[in-house]
Amino acid sequence: MTTPREPYRVIQWGTGAVGAEMMIAALDGRAGLELVGAKVYSESKHGTDVGTLVGRDPVGVLATADTAEVIAMPADCVLYTPRTTDLDEVCAILASGKNVATTAFLFHPARLPAPDRDRVLAACEQGGTSVHGSGLNPGNLSGVLPLALSGMSRTIDKVTLQERADWSVYPSTGITFDNMAFGEPVEQINAATNEFLAFNSSIFTEQVWLMADALNAGIDEVTATVEAVAAQEDHQIFDHVLRAGTTAGQRWNWTGRRNGEPLIEIETLWTVGGEYPDHWPRPKDGWTLTIEGDPSMRTHFFSLASFTRPASMDEHVRSANVATAMQVLNAVPALCEAPPGFATSASLPLVRSRVGFGNA
Ligand SMILES: NC(=O)c1ccc[n+]([C@@H]2O[C@H](COP(=O)([O-])OP(=O)(O)OC[C@H]3O[C@@H](n4cnc5c(N)ncnc54)[C@H](OP(=O)(O)O)[C@@H]3O)[C@@H](O)[C@H]2O)c1
Repeated sequence: MTTPREPYRVIQWGTGAVGAEMMIAALDGRAGLELVGAKVYSESKHGTDVGTLVGRDPVGVLATADTAEVIAMPADCVLYTPRTTDLDEVCAILASGKNVATTAFLFHPARLPAPDRDRVLAACEQGGTSVHGSGLNPGNLSGVLPLALSGMSRTIDKVTLQERADWSVYPSTGITFDNMAFGEPVEQINAATNEFLAFNSSIFTEQVWLMADALNAGIDEVTATVEAVAAQEDHQIFDHVLRAGTTAGQRWNWTGRRNGEPLIEIETLWTVGGEYPDHWPRPKDGWTLTIEGDPSMRTHFFSLASFTRPASMDEHVRSANVATAMQVLNAVPALCEAPPGFATSASLPLVRSRVGFGNA
């Protein structure tokens, strides 16, 4: 069982771009969390102090690449942010008595295929724990924000979220190229044959179900489509060359329908290399959420390091990782106090910044 007292002891699982932001916030000491361990994948990080890993002073807690060691560690919550997920691993963490807060998956586990759903639930029951998946999108913008806006709705006819992003500046190139298959032949971009793209498609499908279930849409299916477009020329993306003729654009669409009528849509307009197909829709960069209904509402979200001071591109890019990380980190206290099982953006209380202005 978890301890209903602060600080909540957390373990960082995966210390990449998003994980590092969580570690910095936990080490800052104001989030009500104590960083008691870290699971790393790179051997070069094994045995390194968690403070050192994120450019802070050492704190006497060493990261380890040994999965069994981390699962045996006492803690209240694991912040699970690896590049690729492992459901067996997550079940073992939950069964060991540690809650799981993740940016990677499990956004609406009640809609997982039944065997997966049931074993996650069994692990939660065994460990007296709960699991919460969130972030930016999937996460706040396709969960918290539409539900918050729906508080102003009399009735809703349709919800659409469009995400337009060029990934050229996203430093997690393992995700861009290895997982998301940018730079691969366009015919390889589909959810049927590519394992990671199938996984990626499943998490957005789950997110459509989350909105649908929370807003009484009564949908009977969610379908996924993708259009991949090829680069016209080569592009240097960090240490990768994206070759002309390979995938430089992916337009995914997940639609939840009731009796064939589309009620909820998430569409991603993703490019790498900055070429933008003429025939794609052109919402502003960032996220555009439209609720058609009584009343109809539209809002646009975009994060930067600052809207007032000059900032480098690295800082601006980092802001999206901060947002992703904080949405989940700020949910930890509520997650640790939640009853065993699934804790979603719809079931947890509104996640707010714990530190805020920091003047308490
Ligand atoms: N929901 C959202 O809005 C949202 C937004 C952004 C990202 N995400 C998700 O959050 C997670 C973290 O993203 P990120 O940008 O931080 O990723 P990242 O920097 O590319 O990678 C995260 C960590 O994955 C670890 N890793 C290396 N090899 C691995 C393997 N074979 N299997 C599993 N993990 C491995 C590494 O750990 P070490 O460095 O510790 O060795 C790496 O630092 C991803 O699952 C990503 O899809 C979600």
